[in-house]
Amino acid sequence: MKKKILTWLGVIILLTLTGVAIATGMRQHITYSAPLPDIHAVKDSAVIARGRHIVLGPGHCADCHSNVPGKDSLLKAGLDVPLTGGYLFDLPFGKFYTKNLTPDKETGIGSKSDPELARVIRYGVHADGQMVLPFMPFQHMADEDLVAVLSYLRSLKPVHNRIPENEYNLMGKMLKAFVLKPVGPTEKIPASVKADTSVAYGRYLSMVVANCYECHTQRDGVGNFIGEPMAGGLVFETPGKSTLVTPNLTPDSSSRIFGWSRQMFIGRFRMGKLIEHSHMPWAAFSRMSDDELTAIYNYLHTLKPTKMPKVEQ
Ligand code: HEC
Ligand code: HEC
Repeated sequence: MKKKILTWLGVIILLTLTGVAIATGMRQHITYSAPLPDIHAVKDSAVIARGRHIVLGPGHCADCHSNVPGKDSLLKAGLDVPLTGGYLFDLPFGKFYTKNLTPDKETGIGSKSDPELARVIRYGVHADGQMVLPFMPFQHMADEDLVAVLSYLRSLKPVHNRIPENEYNLMGKMLKAFVLKPVGPTEKIPASVKADTSVAYGRYLSMVVANCYECHTQRDGVGNFIGEPMAGGLVFETPGKSTLVTPNLTPDSSSRIFGWSRQMFIGRFRMGKLIEHSHMPWAAFSRMSDDELTAIYNYLHTLKPTKMPKVEQ
């Protein structure tokens, strides 16, 4: 009797696994729909300049979308960086490449419309309906800034650079089929924001454009936020290098920035990267203006003082 039950159990497990495998396969090309934002690039030079500042500065797009040697030095020197993509994220669930953001028709964004690109950033859905991997939390970027970003990208010289296809391993395929979904906005998106030193602008930079929140808040294995906002505790492991943990940025007495004056805070950003393998886009952030850094400083000081969560390493 016992043996029979075990046999049946084996058959059921086998059938379930086969079912999961078939469903995983079928769900690899699953497409999603999302609104096409009414966002269109313009040729106004002031708008293009704002876009350039966001892309190479606080928005740190170049940190991921460029793979040229010496990229950090170019960024720190205030120069342009080729946004030709090809940077590899070699992760436990596959190999993923950043895309060529120059307007090349064949290998870049040249064949995609402005609303299609805006939908990538705002709703996480590619032009062909496939999910955009959740690397870019810019969903709540104001309309005006998104227009500026696209206007800058459209103004670039097209560079032919073919990017390899992403490669999902089995775990990646399962994640794609059953766990990951396009991430859209959860709050109303402003038409424009006032760029000043206010707490409101500091919140916008920290939460939306510079993504301080994304790294300085603890998360679980699949990326869900589990810690107090900005209290640190996210672990970054690099093979062969020391493990880094994002520090607490709330005004608690145990925080990394406790006691830092505004000048010290700005001064730290002017220095750029001090730990070579740090994941923080220091070079891009060093291009932020004193006003932008002051706004972030002001915002961080309105947060609830919180201790850093316990970190398992
Ligand atoms: C943390 C890394 C990272 C940052 C920062 C980043 N990107 Fe991306 N981006 C990616 C990756 C990875 C992909 C490919 C996603 C995929 O294959 O689904 C991508 C894809 C895109 C695409 C889709 C292009 C296409 O042809 O399908 C656009 C557009 C884009 N990024 C724009 C931006 C802009 C604009 C910024 C800055 C505001 C930015 N990205 C910042 C990692 C990043
Ligand atoms: C991609 C992840 C990432 C993002 C985005 C990020 N940080 Fe960090 N941050 C780190 C890591 C990792 C460290 C620890 C290593 C280091 O000091 O570079 C760190 C360290 C720091 C430090 C301590 C530096 C020191 O020398 O003691 C400050 C201050 C800081 N971050 C502020 C910010 C602010 C403000 C933002 C947004 C403007 C931000 N970070 C965005 C990952 C990130």
